[in-house]
Amino acid sequence: MSQPAAVTLVEVGPRDGLQNEPSAVSTDVKLTLIDSLADAGLKVIEAGAFVSPKWVPQMADTPEIYRRLEEEGRKREGVSYPALTPNMKGFEAAVAAGVEEIAVFGAASETFSQKNINCSISESLARFEPVIEAARGRFIQVRGYVSCALGCPYEGDIDPNAVAAVSEGLARMGCYEISLGDTIGVGTPASTRRLLDAVKQRVPVDMLAGHFHDTYGMAISNIATALDFGITTFDSSVGGLGGCPYAKGASGNVATEDVVYLLRGMGVETGVDLDKLVDVSAFISSALNRPPASKVAQAVLAQRPKH
Ligand code: HMG
Ligand code: MG
Repeated sequence: MSQPAAVTLVEVGPRDGLQNEPSAVSTDVKLTLIDSLADAGLKVIEAGAFVSPKWVPQMADTPEIYRRLEEEGRKREGVSYPALTPNMKGFEAAVAAGVEEIAVFGAASETFSQKNINCSISESLARFEPVIEAARGRFIQVRGYVSCALGCPYEGDIDPNAVAAVSEGLARMGCYEISLGDTIGVGTPASTRRLLDAVKQRVPVDMLAGHFHDTYGMAISNIATALDFGITTFDSSVGGLGGCPYAKGASGNVATEDVVYLLRGMGVETGVDLDKLVDVSAFISSALNRPPASKVAQAVLAQRPKH
């Protein structure tokens, strides 16, 4: 395995994680979660999505989250709090709430694109163009997601060249980073390799990030494969929270604890304090009334002295 000196972790628990929780999580709990993730050393924390509350009610308090992050002086120096914005309406609401980095989200599957954002892939790119242009005008960085990079809940296998084409489109429009999403967690190291072989022909590897869900337990192996390709940014979710409301059966993102443990074992710097992170995992899991999905968190918690 090749060995970068450091890896950037994009914590997506408060957004990708909580968007798929059936039980309501209060705004106060979300804010405590976001603050404690920053305390644990995460430098990029995706804190919400400016999407239709009819489509994803769990994200309806996103404007309030960002307003309170700003007004209550919760934003930490050196920490970025990106938000998802699917269109100009979302972008304008994000700007009004003081958001300083955004992400647009497309897909490599036509059916998923329709189900998730109610338009075709080419329509989505056309929608993103003014968003990216407006963001650049305000010096707001834009990240681009490509969902269904390793499989679609409706179409099954996805051609890696289709992923490469959408990734290239987003990069050309001005996204500084392209996050390749294994939305339903079906990828394996072999399919991850085929995907990255295709995408790297069209987008430089240092612009790529890996976004793995762990439905089949392959996420950590897929990250190890992506590290071999030179990818050094990974999305993860504390406690393995997450899923996608438009991808039935998909489990959470790879747990941040598991990724930190993998990288710590390799001597790769993440800036994250694993013990503090496990505390955060225990906090949000108990708010959701279940144990953390992360094996690392379970092991660390089991070894702690009982009071
Ligand atoms: P639409 O119905 O086609 O939009 O939805 P529309 O423009 O026709 O507007 C319909 C209504 O929505 C109107 O309200 C608009 O004002 C409102 P009404 O007149 O009916 O009261 N509206 C909005 N409200 C708030 N914020 C907005 C907004 N835009 C329109 N930004 C839309 C299109 C994109 C809005 C909708 O499909 C949507 O919100 N989809 C979001 C789905 C979503 O959030 N999915 C999860 C995130 S993606 C993911 O998880 C994958 C990822 O993790 C990577 C991976 O794992 O692969 C990123
Ligand atoms: Mg996701």
